[in-house]
This record gives sequence, C-alpha cells and structure tokens, in this order.
Amino acid sequence: MKIGIGNDHAAVAMKNEIMEYVSELGHEVVNFGTDTTDSCDYPEYGEKVGRAVVNKDVDFGILICGTGVGISLSANKVHGVRAAVCSEPVTARLVRAHNNANIIAFGERIVGIEMAKSIVKTFLETEFEGGRHQRRVDLMMEIEGKNR
Ligand code: RB5
Repeated sequence: MKIGIGNDHAAVAMKNEIMEYVSELGHEVVNFGTDTTDSCDYPEYGEKVGRAVVNKDVDFGILICGTGVGISLSANKVHGVRAAVCSEPVTARLVRAHNNANIIAFGERIVGIEMAKSIVKTFLETEFEGGRHQRRVDLMMEIEGKNR
C-alpha cells in the first residue's frame, strides 16, 4: 500500500524510524514533512496528509506530533478524514475494524518507538469489518455532510 506520513517538529525522530519500519513492512511511504526540528505548526501537516488520503493519493495516513492530538484534530477538519489517536494496538485494531479510520495518529511524547511500531503494524494489517459498523460510519459521515 501507499502510506502518507506527516508530523511536526516534536516528532521528527519518531517519524524517521516509522518511515523505515513502514518500508520494511513492504509499503511505499510518502513523506509530507516536516523534516527539521525547527518549530512549526502541526495543522499544516495534518491537512496535507488528510488531503492526500481523501484524494486517494495514498491509501492510509500516519500522523505524529507531541501527543498525536493536535495533528489528528487538524486532519479531521478535512472532509472524508477519520483520524484516530491511539496509544496502544488494541485501539489501533478497533479504529480500523469498527470506525474505518483512514489515518492513525500518536504522540512521540506519549508512546515509545516499539509501541508506535506495534500501533502502525496493527493499523495497517486490520481490515474494516463493515456490516453494522458501515451503518455507523455512514451516520458519522452524514453529520459531516450536514455541517459543510
Ligand atoms: C508542540 O509543542 C505540541 O503542541 C504538538 O506537537 C502537539 O502535541 C499538539 O497537539
């Protein structure tokens, strides 16, 4: 698959390790930056990856900032994005299986690199279950449609 990745200045080191890991898993990685530790604004990178996912330039997105929160909230402002913050793999599995999340987010200041890898692997290996979950995802996306 093609995976878009984005981050702010708080997560450059973790982003680099995760990019390498995602490549090792056999995926193509598209890096949307930032690549320096100079202070920057996470909404820019959340939006870039969010747009890439919605436009189908990539299959899924990975976002990392200090907590994973600001960058995922920003991505979620792009219509069609379902970005979920996770700090362990059980949630990473369930946000794919039940919520059909298309972006996973986490914080370099919150999780260690091995936990981050486990979150990413689980997210990328899990399929959406559909069925009753499809109805709920459709209802969720309808809310977005009503608030354009
Ligand atoms: C940057 O200092 C920090 O606020 C950011 O990385 C993130 O944690 C915001 O949600």
